[in-house]
Amino acid sequence: MPTDKLNFSCVLVTGGARGIGKALAEYFVHLGKKVILVGRNEWNFSAAAKEIDAEAYYVLDVGVSADIPAFVERITKEHPELDCIVNNAGVQRQIDIVDGDLEDFLSKADQEIDINIRGPLHLTMNLLLHLRSKPQATIVNVSSLLAFLPTRMASPVYNGTKAWLHFWTMNLRTALERVNDNIRVIGIAPPSVGTDLHREAEDPDDNKKHKSPTALTIEEFMEEIEPKLERGDYFIGAGPGVQLIERWQQNFEPVYESAVAKIKWGKP
Ligand SMILES: NC(=O)c1ccc[n+]([C@@H]2O[C@H](COP(=O)([O-])OP(=O)(O)OC[C@H]3O[C@@H](n4cnc5c(N)ncnc54)[C@H](OP(=O)(O)O)[C@@H]3O)[C@@H](O)[C@H]2O)c1
Repeated sequence: MPTDKLNFSCVLVTGGARGIGKALAEYFVHLGKKVILVGRNEWNFSAAAKEIDAEAYYVLDVGVSADIPAFVERITKEHPELDCIVNNAGVQRQIDIVDGDLEDFLSKADQEIDINIRGPLHLTMNLLLHLRSKPQATIVNVSSLLAFLPTRMASPVYNGTKAWLHFWTMNLRTALERVNDNIRVIGIAPPSVGTDLHREAEDPDDNKKHKSPTALTIEEFMEEIEPKLERGDYFIGAGPGVQLIERWQQNFEPVYESAVAKIKWGKP
């Protein structure tokens, strides 16, 4: 199995007890990596860790950023070999901009921002010095196709959080490349995949194949992204999302690269 591009030995996967996170965690176990699951529900995570033969699991709500520094201190002490993080945990709240109740809207929106934005931001930044101390390390961020085309009006804040994660991934990669770091930064932007993500939607199964024929099953999704991870792609889509992401890359990456090349680094 060609895994030289996935040259980490110990990976922390947030939200790895089900869905895409669990499938990624299982894949990494299969590749012989030590896998650590992180999530908010102890029972789910202890069961999933046992099922997929993960090295360990930790209870952490990634949306509570105040808990992250102590968590990072503990995990790097207990697993100093940690050299990869997969920021996968995410929620999609259904909120109505026009007819919703203001308090309800804002509390759901804040929770989404805490989990989908502050979670990966605080985890990555608190872990960065540790990862930079490794000869090689990897950061994987799971955004969404909706980051490129926010067509799901039922989740307008979610769409924005995923766009943020995509742009953060680009800037993080650029910043680390500038200092010649050995950290690879990878973005995965799934299309509709049949998981429990839409549990709050009017139809919670609208991301499943029997309701939406263009949606991928988790198995189809993994089958498509595994070879892309193994050959070292840094920006990974799947299924019907590939074309859109390629169009975005073709149009905007050269503009981004040329703007970055002109930056006079030193001052923010
Ligand atoms: N499925 C799709 O169609 C799709 C499409 C594009 C992008 N994505 C992205 O893929 C990632 C995985 O989603 P999924 O589809 O696998 O959904 P999922 O089945 O709902 O799994 C999400 C995982 O994240 C965990 N999580 C949520 N909030 C958390 C928190 N505050 N702290 C720690 N863990 C938390 C969940 O734990 P609990 O079990 O405690 O809820 C669960 O294990 C998400 O970032 C999502 O936005 C999914």
